[in-house]
Formats: sequence, structure tokens, C-alpha cells
Amino acid sequence: MTAKILVMPGDGVGPEICREAVRVLDALASDHGLDIELDEALVGGAAIDAEGDPLPEASLAAAREADAVLFGAIGGPAWDEQPRDKRPESGLLRLRSELGLFANLRPAILYPQLAHVSALKPEIVAGLDIMIVRELTGGIYFGKPSGLHTTASGRREAYNTMRYDEAEIDRIGRAAFDTARARSGRLCSVDKANVLDVSQLWRDVMNGLAGDYPDVELTHMYVDNAAMQLVRAPKQFDTVVTGNLFGDILSDAAAMLTGSIGMLPSASMDAAGKGLYEPVHGSAPDIAGQGVANPLAIILSVAMMLRYTLGRADLAAKVENAVGYALDRGLRTRDIMDDETQMASTQEMGGAIVDMLR
Ligand code: IPM
Ligand code: MG
Repeated sequence: MTAKILVMPGDGVGPEICREAVRVLDALASDHGLDIELDEALVGGAAIDAEGDPLPEASLAAAREADAVLFGAIGGPAWDEQPRDKRPESGLLRLRSELGLFANLRPAILYPQLAHVSALKPEIVAGLDIMIVRELTGGIYFGKPSGLHTTASGRREAYNTMRYDEAEIDRIGRAAFDTARARSGRLCSVDKANVLDVSQLWRDVMNGLAGDYPDVELTHMYVDNAAMQLVRAPKQFDTVVTGNLFGDILSDAAAMLTGSIGMLPSASMDAAGKGLYEPVHGSAPDIAGQGVANPLAIILSVAMMLRYTLGRADLAAKVENAVGYALDRGLRTRDIMDDETQMASTQEMGGAIVDMLR
């Protein structure tokens, strides 16, 4: 059956990296029998400019129709002053929520070829392979009440609510236990149970699940300690599960351990295996349009799509091997370059991956 893939390029470097990812998909279709149909839709600032809405109805409808979404990046200074519902970020948050993409998988893998690009000593990060499972459609990002108003005394007051019910914790917990089981069997749940009631519930539900997964070793860590441990001794982690806000913060920290956020893919999954695949890096407006953005994060996101939604682990491995081989050959975009390597443009890097796949 032909799989429908919706490409949402968005803003900043989004369009230029999506172009390379599409070349990779085209190569897989023409040379390796991948049966896909591509469509494209507006999102983020591009959609605000064209239609006054960061997630127009037509884009949401197309995303619902699709089997998988390939997402570039959104946001930029042009839209930062807009009211919250008219900001690019709101489009992405609505898309996650409307599609029920509750399980966000963010791997942080260090390519041996890039060990010296990390801000940490090579021996601390060599062999790093962490999977952060972030809850993506609940918690303080979506909890009600939230708002900003002026109190009777004339002072402005703003508030958000960190809220989870046990069913939401249970489903992300199961996704994380399954992920850990398929890896090394170690799962660390990160919370702030020493202070927050919502974290105490989180911890109770995770402990309850442990009985169903006797083969997975569950540990708990407070989020402040987890932030410290990630930069002190990151290799102690295998699979990490945490809520929306903590996961947002910890996944950026974990990303930087690998040398470049420009290398990291992500998957946001619903309960049925549909996913939105996007690079972890954002729209990087400062380098947009210059042809220097690293397309490997989105190309590796295509690999995740092949594995998790399209059932083509064989092709996922081909794409990942091509990325490894490009690095072996010394190909580097600006973010991962060093004195010994020559700079490749976004297009040259994409082209190299395509050549290897053909
Ligand atoms: C991320 C981003 C988003 C988030 C923003 C763009 C809304 O930082 O995917 O991590 O906070 O989730
Ligand atoms: Mg983030």
C-alpha cells in the first residue's frame, strides 16, 4: 500500500533541509522500491504570512490524512511579537495535540567521527547512546487553567498548570518501557517528586508499571540531578522517560553532548504508529538561506520514519549507514567541521547521501 507522507517545511532552514530529505525519499522510491506519495503543506510563520494562521485548516486536514509527517522547523524573529495563538510555535503545539502525538523519541547518539566536536571530553561522551522519551501532549504545556491577567490590585499575574492524569502517565510509561526493553533494558524516570504532586503521581504510576516489565530495570531521578548527571557522566543513561517541560530542557542538553544539535532526529508518535518526524534543531534564522545548514538531522528523521511508521527497518539502516559513511569520508557541514575537514554545503551533504543510496 502506498504510504502518504506530508512534508511541512516551515520556516528558517526548514525548507532547505526538507529539500534534501525529499531527495533521499525520492532515491529510496526509485531505487529501493519504497512505495510513497508526497504532499506538502504550510505551517508556522510561512503559514501565518500566507493565511494568517500557523496551522491552517487545510494543513491540519492533510496531516490527519497522512501516514507520516516530515516536519522542517518553525519560528523566527519576524513572528515573535505576535499574540501567542498567532505564533509559529502554536502551530506545532496544536499539530502535536490534534494528532495525539504523545510519545516523543529523542535519541542522542554520538558518532565516533565527531567525538572531538563535543563540548565534553571525548572519554566522557565516546559511545554515548541515550534515548529520551518525552511526554508531548500534556503537562504544563497544555494544562488548564493558564493565562495572563490583571488582578484587582492592578498587578499583572500569569500562571500555567502542570497536570497529568494517570492514564496519560501510563501510556507514555508503557511507550518508554517498550523502548527500554528493545534497548539495554534500563529505564530512568525523571521527575521532581520531592516538590511537585504531579511528579509524585508520575512516580507512583511508573512504579506500578514496573511489575508488567520485570525485564526492565526502573530507576528514578530528580530533574535537577538529571541535568547535572547528563553533563557529568552521561553514559550512565540508556532510556530516559520524563514529562513535557523536563523533556524539552533535558533533550537540548543531551543533544549538545553529541557535538551538534544538527545531527539529531526525533519522532513524535501517536498510539497507532503514525508519526511526525523532525530534526531536533530549530529554524536557525541566522543561517537560513545560506546553504550551510546540516541536513543530517532531518535525513536521520527520515530513517526513524522508515523504521517506526513505514516498517522498513532495512531502508532505515541503509540511510543511517550512508550518514556514517559520509562522515567517514570527511564530509562536514559547518556545524561539525574541524581543521582537518572541508566544508560541505547543505546540498552537497544531501547529494552525498543520495549518491550512496543509489
Ligand atoms: C521542541 C521545541 C518546541 C517545544 C517549541 C518550538 C514549541 O523547543 O520541540 O523541543 O518547546 O516543544
Ligand atoms: Mg525544545
